[in-house]
Amino acid sequence: MRTVYVNGEFVPEDEAKVSIFDRGFLFADGVYEVTTVLDRKLVDFFGHRARLRRSLGELNIVLDLTDEQLLDIHRQLIAANDLDEGIIYLQVTRGAADRDFVFPPEDTPVTTVLFTQAYSVIDNPLAQRGAKVVSVDDKRWSRCDIKTVQLLYPSLAKMEARSKGADDAWLVRDGLVTEGSSNNAYIVTRDGTIVTRDLSNLILHGITRRAVLECARNLQMKVEERPFTIEEAQGAREAFSTSASGFVSPVVQIDGKPIGDGSVGSVARQLREVYIAEMRKSAI
Ligand code: PDD
Repeated sequence: MRTVYVNGEFVPEDEAKVSIFDRGFLFADGVYEVTTVLDRKLVDFFGHRARLRRSLGELNIVLDLTDEQLLDIHRQLIAANDLDEGIIYLQVTRGAADRDFVFPPEDTPVTTVLFTQAYSVIDNPLAQRGAKVVSVDDKRWSRCDIKTVQLLYPSLAKMEARSKGADDAWLVRDGLVTEGSSNNAYIVTRDGTIVTRDLSNLILHGITRRAVLECARNLQMKVEERPFTIEEAQGAREAFSTSASGFVSPVVQIDGKPIGDGSVGSVARQLREVYIAEMRKSAI
């Protein structure tokens, strides 16, 4: 049985309790982070912690934990669960109060929950065979830059993809790809340029995205941060996605059309290898 963290305590998972009045439960009034664990160490922890602080700030949720405490809780969970590879999920909500659209008083304690999930990040069959994706309308709200727990639409999009025999969905707003259901989306043009949507309120500012673009630039690859269409993606040489849990994941088919020759592309493969090597070095 796992040891999880809930509001200051480390407890067995079946003893962890959150109120039915919690605003995360009633209003999806909360934010989360997913940090990968590799070789028992945290990948890009400072990036995830900084984005957590930003998400909380955008929603005026005041977390009662210092930067050092956050790191310490993550490390204690790795040790308590003997986690070699997987993820740590963290969620902070505005706490429990009588149901009201108006926020509760500012001194209402927030709810903080963290748990581990063991999982093979490196040895992932999808990274070997490449994902099939389908495009779906991006019907999310327009603050996708905040990592909130309102994940119903991405979940519906993923189910739509599954029902069509695909692995994932790429979201399209005003004719342009924003991102994947739970990852950032990229193409590699015929001349070898890596293209991914520019940062704005319409996408999550991926921590993996930032690190992978830095790897690409260090490898002298050309990067363009701009929107692209599904048609451009279908005519591209390669496509891939990035996320904390998927690292760099090749995409080999979009809406039934093979990308390039339909197999995993060399840019995606190289970026995945370089990114993993860099993260093994920098994980803490
Ligand atoms: N998802 N875009 C969306 C909509 C996401 O949900 C995620 C992450 C990303 C990639 O961000 P990062 O590189 O920081 O993981 C982009 C996480 C992994 C999840 O919900 O499980």
